[in-house]
Amino acid sequence: MQILQTIKETRQACAKARASATKPTVLGLIPTMGALHEGHLSLIRTAKKQCEIVVATIFVNPTQFGPNEDFSRYPRTFVADCALLEAEGVDILFAPSVEDMYPTGTSRTFIEVPGISDRLDGLSRPGHFRGVATVVAKLFHIVSPDRAYFGQKDAAQVAVLRAMVHDLNFPVEVIVCPTVRDADGLALSSRNQYLSPEERTQALALSRSLANATAQATKGMHDASQLKSAILQDLQSTPTLKIDYVEIVDPTTLEPIADLQAGALIAVAAWIGKTRLIDNALLPATHPHQKIARDAS
Ligand code: PAJ
Repeated sequence: MQILQTIKETRQACAKARASATKPTVLGLIPTMGALHEGHLSLIRTAKKQCEIVVATIFVNPTQFGPNEDFSRYPRTFVADCALLEAEGVDILFAPSVEDMYPTGTSRTFIEVPGISDRLDGLSRPGHFRGVATVVAKLFHIVSPDRAYFGQKDAAQVAVLRAMVHDLNFPVEVIVCPTVRDADGLALSSRNQYLSPEERTQALALSRSLANATAQATKGMHDASQLKSAILQDLQSTPTLKIDYVEIVDPTTLEPIADLQAGALIAVAAWIGKTRLIDNALLPATHPHQKIARDAS
């Protein structure tokens, strides 16, 4: 695995990898902020199956953190991350410095996806998705991937990035991989490292509430506000958990929906002590009340 730290070297290495291929070549990109876990590795493994060249990035992107957020204490485990990526057969790792990505300390130019960027996490973390869209666009320009891999775990991020790719005509296919969970249901996250054992137990309330909600919807509940109340009630039974949001939305626009339908996104975010965690579930296509949009036409 080539480990590269500058934009120039990475641009050259990606171009060279393509040029030296003897057959048509698909280049897959997996952007990350490091502190890698099985969730990240699932994206890498999917990319390895689908692409001849796999490029991963590790960059804790300052522009997507608010002033009082965890940028400085975000886990940085570079040596262990490199070993994991090497073992997965990643071809190129791009791990730039903040100075290389943002020579003036920040960006003059930002990419905004108004509307979508202001819902769910965007509402609780103003400016967050502006930073995400901007850094992902920069990575797309540097690496020129054919495909980019993201996790369903960050459903709102997926909606923002899909919109950006569509609106700005990036020649990149966005591939979304399922959320990887621990055996007890907790969605894997680099931020789980912040949790004490007690907090980790409390954090299970998120995935539990989503599993209960999915079961209720599958059994026939079709009023989104009723389901939302049930989730809120469920989460409130863990009193130490501070609910940030519970929303039932269209996964593309992130706009709230009133009637549950297959593919609806149920998204939750909550604080456990100083740690903010998110999780979500997509309502399965077996929901009895409504057909999936593509079947309805
Ligand atoms: P990070 O949180 O490191 O996540 C990198 C990628 O891994 C994202 O696409 C995320 O959705 C995915 N991921 C994280 N946990 C997962 C899980 N449990 N199952 C499946 N996929 C999971 O998301 C970011 O970094 C940043 O915002 C980034 C896109 C790199 C831009 O800075």
